[in-house]
Amino acid sequence: IISHHYSHRTSSSRSLFGIAFDIDGVLLRGSKPIEGAPEALSQLYENAQPRVPFVFLTNGGGVLESKKAFELSQLLGVVVSETQVLLGHTPFRKLVNSYGGVRTLAVGKGEPASVLSGYGFQDVVSLDEYAFEHDDIDPLKQYKTWAPIRTAYSSQQREKKIGAVFVVSDPIDWGQDIQVICDVLRSGGEPENESGPQPPLFFAADDFLYQSLFPIARFGMGAFRLALESIFTRLTGNPLIYTSFGKPQASVYKDAERTLQHLASEIIFKDIKFPSPDNLKEGLNTTYMIGDNPYTDICGARAAGAPWYSILVRTGCFKGKENDKCFPAGCRQCTRSSRIYIAARRC
Ligand code: G3P
Ligand code: MG
Repeated sequence: IISHHYSHRTSSSRSLFGIAFDIDGVLLRGSKPIEGAPEALSQLYENAQPRVPFVFLTNGGGVLESKKAFELSQLLGVVVSETQVLLGHTPFRKLVNSYGGVRTLAVGKGEPASVLSGYGFQDVVSLDEYAFEHDDIDPLKQYKTWAPIRTAYSSQQREKKIGAVFVVSDPIDWGQDIQVICDVLRSGGEPENESGPQPPLFFAADDFLYQSLFPIARFGMGAFRLALESIFTRLTGNPLIYTSFGKPQASVYKDAERTLQHLASEIIFKDIKFPSPDNLKEGLNTTYMIGDNPYTDICGARAAGAPWYSILVRTGCFKGKENDKCFPAGCRQCTRSSRIYIAARRC
C-alpha cells in the first residue's frame, strides 16, 4: 500500500492515507496472529515516515475497547490505544441516552454486562445472571458441566422488567440464550407474563460467518439472529423487530473515517515538519479497508464510497481465486471480476 500510494508523488506533495484493519481472518485467527501481521503493523507504526494512521475495525467484541486495545498490543506486539479500536458494539454507547435508565439484558461471550455498564448503562444484567435469577428457566442446566455465574439477587431485582436486549458479542449457549431471549421478548420484558409488546433488541453485528482457527468459517452473530428470528416467529407469529450494527453499516465507516482523520491530524503536527497545503486542508485523502469478508468489510467500504478503497485478503472467510463477484474489492466503481486486490490500485 505504501509504495502504491506514494508511487506518483514527490515527497513534498505526499498525500496522507489511513488503514482500517479487520481483525478476524486478517490479523488474527482465534488468538493466533496471522503470519506477517505483527511485522506489517510495526512497519506502519515504527518505520513509515510519516507514520500511517490505522484503526482496528472489527465486528467482534465482548470486552471494552480499552481491554481489547491491551489484548491486541500483547498479541500483535504494537502499541494500540483505545481510540484505535472500533468494535461491533462500540455504537451501543450512543444508545445510553435512550436506554441507559432501563434494565438491560446483555448477551454474549466475554464480559457483555461490563461493556454496557462501561458505556454508562445504569442497570445491566447478563443473560447468565438472569437465568440464574429465574429457577428452572433452562431445563437442560443440569447437563451443562460448565460453572454458572452465581450472583445473589434480591427478589425485587428479579421482578424488574427488562426494557431492552443487547446482543453484545457471539452468544455461547445458543439453546439457553434463544429460550431466555424469547421469554423476555414475547412477554414485554416480564417472563412471567403471557405476552406483551416486544422490547427493543440490538445486535452488535450481523455476520453470518467469520473466520476463526478452524479451517472452515464458523457461524457468527448473524447466524444466531436467524435462529432466534425463526424460533421467535414460530412461537409468536410476529416478525422479530431488531437493529443490527457493525460492518457493512454506513455509520461504522463514518466513525472509522473520523477516527482516522483525527489520528492523521496528530501525525501531521508531530511527524511532518513542512506539511503541504493539501495535507493541512484535506488530512487523509484515502482510507483503505483491509478485510476478509466481502459481505461485511468490502460491501460496506464500497457503499461508503470515497475516500474508502477496499482490499480483500485470502487469509480468512474469502477463499476465491479472483476478486469477489458480488462485492469486488477496490473502489466503489470497481465492477470487474479481475485479480484480487491484494495490492491497492486506484481506478
Ligand atoms: O465475532 C467476530 C466476527 O463476527 C467478525 O470479526 O474482525 O472479522 O470483523 P471481524
Ligand atoms: Mg474478518
